[in-house]
Amino acid sequence: MRRRLGHHRQHGKQGGVGGRGLLWKLLIAVFVVLLICTLSLLFSATITATNGSNAPSEINVEKLWESANSGGWRPSSSPRTDWPSPPKETKGYLRVRCNGGLNQQRSAICNAVLAARIMNATLVLPELDANSFWHDDSGFHGIYDVEHFILSLRFDLRIVERIPEIRKNGKTKKIKAFQLRPPRDAPISWYTTEALEKMEEHGAIYLTPFSHRLAEEIDNPEYQRLRCRVNYHALRFKPHIMKLSESIVDKLRSQGHFMAIHLRFEMDMLAFAGCFDIFSPAEQKILKKYRMENFAKKTLIYKERRAIGKCPLTPEEVGLLLRAMGFNNSTRMYLAAGELFGGEHFMKPFRALFPHLENHSSVDSSEELAANARGLIGSAVDYMNPDDKCPSENVMQILHSQLESENMDSEIYNQSDSVVSLAER
Ligand SMILES: *[C@@H]1O[C@H](CO)[C@@H](O)[C@H](O)[C@H]1NC(C)=O
Ligand SMILES: *[C@@H]1O[C@H](CO)[C@@H](O)[C@H](O)[C@H]1NC(C)=O
Ligand SMILES: *[C@@H]1O[C@H](CO)[C@@H](O)[C@H](O)[C@H]1NC(C)=O
Ligand SMILES: *[C@@H]1O[C@H](CO)[C@@H](O)[C@H](O)[C@H]1NC(C)=O
Ligand SMILES: *[C@@H]1O[C@H](CO)[C@@H](O)[C@H](O)[C@H]1NC(C)=O
Repeated sequence: MRRRLGHHRQHGKQGGVGGRGLLWKLLIAVFVVLLICTLSLLFSATITATNGSNAPSEINVEKLWESANSGGWRPSSSPRTDWPSPPKETKGYLRVRCNGGLNQQRSAICNAVLAARIMNATLVLPELDANSFWHDDSGFHGIYDVEHFILSLRFDLRIVERIPEIRKNGKTKKIKAFQLRPPRDAPISWYTTEALEKMEEHGAIYLTPFSHRLAEEIDNPEYQRLRCRVNYHALRFKPHIMKLSESIVDKLRSQGHFMAIHLRFEMDMLAFAGCFDIFSPAEQKILKKYRMENFAKKTLIYKERRAIGKCPLTPEEVGLLLRAMGFNNSTRMYLAAGELFGGEHFMKPFRALFPHLENHSSVDSSEELAANARGLIGSAVDYMNPDDKCPSENVMQILHSQLESENMDSEIYNQSDSVVSLAER
């Protein structure tokens, strides 16, 4: 348990594919996330109404929609021991280029902050990936509240929006960052030796690609807490994104219970995992092509991928599990993120189990939403960022808040809503 808590994993809401920790990722992929927000008033009304005879007796509806138990774990964001402010003198500038989907990049930002802190360096606002799959070049400025980010981490490290210019022989020019490729899950020692050396030599380094480039397990609780501060407090979506997602949540809530789910049954995930055999020959061709073009060569025995647990569950399988837990066909399902690969063939069985499906266009057909429904911003909108009813964090964070009991951060959030996370149970 401890080890898990120490983690600060976040997984690809979208492009979150990588090698290590794949099992966990696939779990995420399976349901990725279930977020259930309810109005407490409606909540109690529903309970009274459901003690009817056709509800299976062993299913306790109240329990079904209630918050997952934190098991007594408390939030761990604030420093608990002496945590000095960053030294006046910087060792240099750290630039990173994050890659992957929204969550993977978010996790990379947490790592970049920690890396800069460890090196006593100044962090240049991390660059986000405008990668081929998500076609999104909104960048950090387009998605996150930059001012809040810099301000809320001011006791942890210095952050600048861009690399400064220096004057040399009467000319001004930007410091040229020395490009380095960090090892996967690099230990802290890599940052304090190799990376630091280059930084001191060149004044700045540029780490690319930057995803899973700092070990998740670090035997230093203060470092892990810093990651939490970044994720839970410093990274806040821009106001217009929050507003859109709040309006979606409000509309959904006004009609009672709902569940948000990200069926990570998407092209990149399936191609990465090598899960081909349940698809038609034409679909397999598409997946294989995508795999070839986007991922490192690795021989997989496609036939056995599902059998050895490496594939996301199909939508139908997810639906059956949820039904077995007690959710019935009146449960409204908000489908987060992008389109399923394989389309109707895979969606139909899910719809048969849960006919009340919603997505952001069915909830809000406004032009403003349509204009913000693509790429990283689109997934940010789907993160669901409601008001005080749910922790004002994103879906993935709510998952993690179950791990970290961040929901106990009661001065900030009073959890009167229900958050269920299948992936963590
Ligand atoms: C579905 O479950 C709800 C409680 O969550 C209950 O009120 C409703 O009657 C059930 N519907 C059916 C068709 O069983
Ligand atoms: C960073 O600065 C602190 C003092 O503020 C010092 O203890 C630590 O060794 C420094 N780390 C590096 C990598 O220079
Ligand atoms: C939901 O299931 C019940 C039986 O449990 C059935 O009578 C009803 O028609 C179903 N509703 C929908 C919308 O499919
Ligand atoms: C959202 O739902 C509508 C209506 O059910 C559907 O036509 C549309 O394709 C869905 N959009 C996405 C992105 O799945
Ligand atoms: C949350 O709010 C409820 C009702 O508003 C209150 O009874 C409860 O004590 C609050 N919990 C915390 C941890 O503040």
